[in-house]
Amino acid sequence: MKLAVVLFALVTLSECLLKIPLIKGKSARQTLEEKGLYEEYKRKYRYNPRAKFNNRAGGAMVPMIYYPESTYYGVIAIGTPPQSFKVLFDTGSADLWVPSVHCRSSSQACNNHARFNTTASSTFQPSSETFSIQYVTGYMTGDVGYDTVTFGDLYVTHQIFGLSLVEDAFLDNLPWDGILGLAFPNQQSINGGTPVFDNIWKQGKIPQDLFSIYLTSSVDGSMLILGGTDPSYFTGSIQWIPISQPTGYWQINVDSITINGNTVACAAGCQAVVDSGTTEILGPTRDVNNINGWVGAYSEEGLVSCSNIKRMPEIIFNINGFGFTLPASTYVFSYGSSCTTGFGTWDNDQWILGEVFMRQFYTVFNREQNWVGLAQAKKSPESD
Ligand SMILES: *[C@@H]1O[C@H](CO)[C@@H](O)[C@H](O)[C@H]1NC(C)=O
Repeated sequence: MKLAVVLFALVTLSECLLKIPLIKGKSARQTLEEKGLYEEYKRKYRYNPRAKFNNRAGGAMVPMIYYPESTYYGVIAIGTPPQSFKVLFDTGSADLWVPSVHCRSSSQACNNHARFNTTASSTFQPSSETFSIQYVTGYMTGDVGYDTVTFGDLYVTHQIFGLSLVEDAFLDNLPWDGILGLAFPNQQSINGGTPVFDNIWKQGKIPQDLFSIYLTSSVDGSMLILGGTDPSYFTGSIQWIPISQPTGYWQINVDSITINGNTVACAAGCQAVVDSGTTEILGPTRDVNNINGWVGAYSEEGLVSCSNIKRMPEIIFNINGFGFTLPASTYVFSYGSSCTTGFGTWDNDQWILGEVFMRQFYTVFNREQNWVGLAQAKKSPESD
């Protein structure tokens, strides 16, 4: 009898979960390499992950960053009737923006992406305010408005969002049109507005105030799950880690990073942000260089010998008393005939646990408890 009640509760809950398939598209880097333009872009547009986290002082500012490796996107619709957009679901920012139909670019960036036409939506409400977008070359304002946002069968009304009016040239090869932020609400959000996930919860659309993300290395199969967790995507149990600081990000405390029992980085503990909008694991230069040295990298960029992957050690992130293990197969990328580790440096004491980490660990973003949950992700059929 008890079991029946529990089962019934589970079934009811899972019926209310909304699963949004994420597609692993071709990264801008892949597209550019095919066109023979990658080196030129790399020189012209420096990848600056820091822009997303640090340029918040000037009010509502959405950094438009060159994300050369980022690939996962899902489809949402805005307006009535719905206009579809591919968006990067980014746990490292809090705003929703898509290109405007009035978007201009010196390249094909606008033409290559879906653009929102406000006059074609009967539910669109303009705002007299604007927001700033930070570009490589400076700042631009964008329009702000409110409209219905639809995800599969679920919708929220009166969602604030930004419409970009200019796109930097480097955006033309990105697989997605805009960004949907899943970080905490903050003062610097567009007009201090309510982020999409907060509206989904406030408007009573999901059973629990949390969402979870499963990333695989296959094209299909990755998933954003709104309102709960789905055990078909992980094995073992979810380990819960409290948010360490109210920074507005999914920030946790890491105790140390070890290889074969040796502390190789984060020796005195460190702060890390779980970010679905960053590809690599980013850390302070000294620590990352040390890790890359331990695994046998022979250059500053973390180049490793592809034939060596089977002999490279596991790297363990020790968090809240649990060990989260990354085998070499998960932290080495191969591009054609060259291989690099997925550890990148940035000018910051903090760490960013990006897709490289999240592919190994199904991640729960729990707003109810202010916890991050991590569980061993089930392997997709294509990976080893
Ligand atoms: C926007 O939508 C309106 C109304 O449907 C249409 O008349 C107009 O041509 C569209 N604008 C663009 C640039 O597509």
